[in-house]
Amino acid sequence: MAIAGHPLHAMLVAFPIALTMCVLGADLIYWWTADVFWTRVAGWAAFGAFLMGVIAGVTGTVELLIVPAIRNRSASWTHFILAVMLLSILAANWLLRIGDPEGAVLPWGLLLSLVAAGMTGITGWHGGKLVFDYQIGVRIPGKSRP
Ligand code: HEM
Repeated sequence: MAIAGHPLHAMLVAFPIALTMCVLGADLIYWWTADVFWTRVAGWAAFGAFLMGVIAGVTGTVELLIVPAIRNRSASWTHFILAVMLLSILAANWLLRIGDPEGAVLPWGLLLSLVAAGMTGITGWHGGKLVFDYQIGVRIPGKSRP
């Protein structure tokens, strides 16, 4: 999926990646300062990370299902499984904070944020492998599209 040749998934994944790191940052700042403002920041960032993760996931899944060259690589399915696990963690990290954003941070919110950040790193790194190692989603001059 692309707009004028620019891949949507690659554009969209920046949002859940950055927002997940924002949740972890806000949790750590709250732990350090005890300023409740940061718990609301973390709650909204957790919501944004999940929402944008789902939107990015939809574009990736459409590619996975309709492009044979993507569907036929086992690495694509590994990335899909990692991403679905990540989206579940992002959902849990958001849902935990609804109603009591302050009480949710220590210890479980912070712990989930750490797991989410690690899982985001693994999923994003693996997504990069799809592109840079396996040339999935890459247009090579002179080669027809899959
Ligand atoms: C939920 C299902 C998902 C599927 C089926 C999927 C599928 C894909 C595919 C086919 C590619 C290679 C082609 C392209 O860039 O479009 C890719 C790349 C990538 N994916 Fe996913 N993805 C999913 C979710 C996610 C999520 C939630 C993240 C966030 C961490 C993510 C991070 C990445 C990254 C960083 C790349 C490399 C982009 C680039 O450098 O061009 N993916 N994914």
